[in-house]
Amino acid sequence: MGFKEQQICLTQRKISVLIVLAFIPAAMFRLCFNNPFSTIDDTTLQDSKAHVLITNYSSSSTQEKETLCDYTKGKWIKDEMGPLYNGSSCGTIKEGQNCLRHGRPDSGYLYWKWKPNQCDIPRFNANRFLDLMRDKHLAFVGDSMARNQLESLICLLSTVSSPHLVYSYEENRFRRWRFESHNVTVSVYWSPFLVAGLEKSGKLDHNILHVDRVDERWGKDLERFDTVIISVGHWFLHPAVYYESGSVLGCHSCEASNCTEIGFFDVFRKAIRTTLKAVSGTHREVLLTTFSPSHFEGRTWDSLDACNMTEPYEDGKVLEGLDLEMRRIEMEEVTAAKEAAEVRLEALDVTEISVLRRDGHPGPYMNEFPFKNGVPKRVRNDCLHWCLPGPVDTWNEIMIEMLRRWRNWNNAETYKLISCIQQVIFSLVI
Ligand SMILES: *[C@@H]1O[C@H](CO)[C@@H](O)[C@H](O)[C@H]1NC(C)=O
Ligand SMILES: *[C@@H]1O[C@H](CO)[C@@H](O)[C@H](O)[C@H]1NC(C)=O
Ligand SMILES: *[C@@H]1O[C@H](CO)[C@@H](O)[C@H](O)[C@H]1NC(C)=O
Ligand SMILES: *[C@@H]1O[C@H](CO)[C@@H](O)[C@H](O)[C@H]1NC(C)=O
Repeated sequence: MGFKEQQICLTQRKISVLIVLAFIPAAMFRLCFNNPFSTIDDTTLQDSKAHVLITNYSSSSTQEKETLCDYTKGKWIKDEMGPLYNGSSCGTIKEGQNCLRHGRPDSGYLYWKWKPNQCDIPRFNANRFLDLMRDKHLAFVGDSMARNQLESLICLLSTVSSPHLVYSYEENRFRRWRFESHNVTVSVYWSPFLVAGLEKSGKLDHNILHVDRVDERWGKDLERFDTVIISVGHWFLHPAVYYESGSVLGCHSCEASNCTEIGFFDVFRKAIRTTLKAVSGTHREVLLTTFSPSHFEGRTWDSLDACNMTEPYEDGKVLEGLDLEMRRIEMEEVTAAKEAAEVRLEALDVTEISVLRRDGHPGPYMNEFPFKNGVPKRVRNDCLHWCLPGPVDTWNEIMIEMLRRWRNWNNAETYKLISCIQQVIFSLVI
């Protein structure tokens, strides 16, 4: 090749490069605003009411069709399948919630399944869950309801993979497990207010809350979490003194202190707000399990019939009082947080579905064989936590569907990127 020919070739190359460079923005433009390769309808992925939606997958031979479903509307139907685990197959059920081992005689409460009106919730698939969480860290943060949900999840997962307890501190309040098969970490952090403070104890007759900063017991580890499940509520009812920006905000049930009674609803809202602000990050997924209803329903806590029902409410039950208000605050704060920033945050809205399950609590079986010496006049009841196995397993079945929906969204994004590259290459060829 002579010098002149080389020059011409170089010019040709320059022109080719220019043409290529010109095509890239064109391809990008097409990609962003009109992607002919996409099979997923974008409108289904950007629903602002997403906190009441899960996707329903009906696998039709080649492609998964996606429809949206409000899982909170439906009913409990009888289900012969029964739970995936029992009171002895999994070593992590807190004694007071292990109703099978504590001699609860009826077992009907184990044979119900939540059926949303518009879709089905698939039975919990532990392998699917572990696949979704591969190489990730899922943390539960909250009070004993968070623990209730966590223990259900550990039991469900242990049907396919052995959990290794790698950390335990303060009587099971802080624990961490590893599922080596999938490189999944699951942990639980005790933090009944989410925000900084002190819980009442022998020395302190009320709680102390600092509503403007998160509890460092979990906050210090936040960067290690990929997915966070938050669940609190009932501790806010106790006597407490509240602080904001270092000064007293007020108190609740404040016999001992002489500050102003301000109730707990606004404080609850502030605590949720502070927490959602702190946890929401671009690479983190957050689910807030809404308020878990108790079923004392006006009966005294030590009466024989405190919550001795053996079937769910049949014809629905309207949310009211505390359940209604606490859930409302949580839903509003989740919506506000989502509007403020683009974050992967949803409410795991279990209040309505759980209020029907008056049959799902340990009741007197919080203690072992409470009637072994005959039936006393008074008996201690737990009508707040849930038997395991029990209704909480359904919460985790819904949770997995929400995670799946997020992952699918991820896939849609990846799909777009691949289509983009395809288009650029296609442009270069022609
Ligand atoms: C509990 O489950 C384990 C494992 O699935 C099984 O071996 C055991 O027999 C079950 N126990 C009862 C009491 O059903
Ligand atoms: C396990 O997951 C972590 C991220 O959570 C990753 O850094 C690590 O490389 C993974 N280990 C294996 C063996 O894949
Ligand atoms: C009650 O309030 C007064 C005036 O604000 C204050 O001086 C006093 O220390 C308070 N007492 C207690 C027990 O907090
Ligand atoms: C619940 O307890 C009350 C009082 O002991 C009793 O009359 C009633 O039959 C019990 N209900 C069920 C479903 O066991």
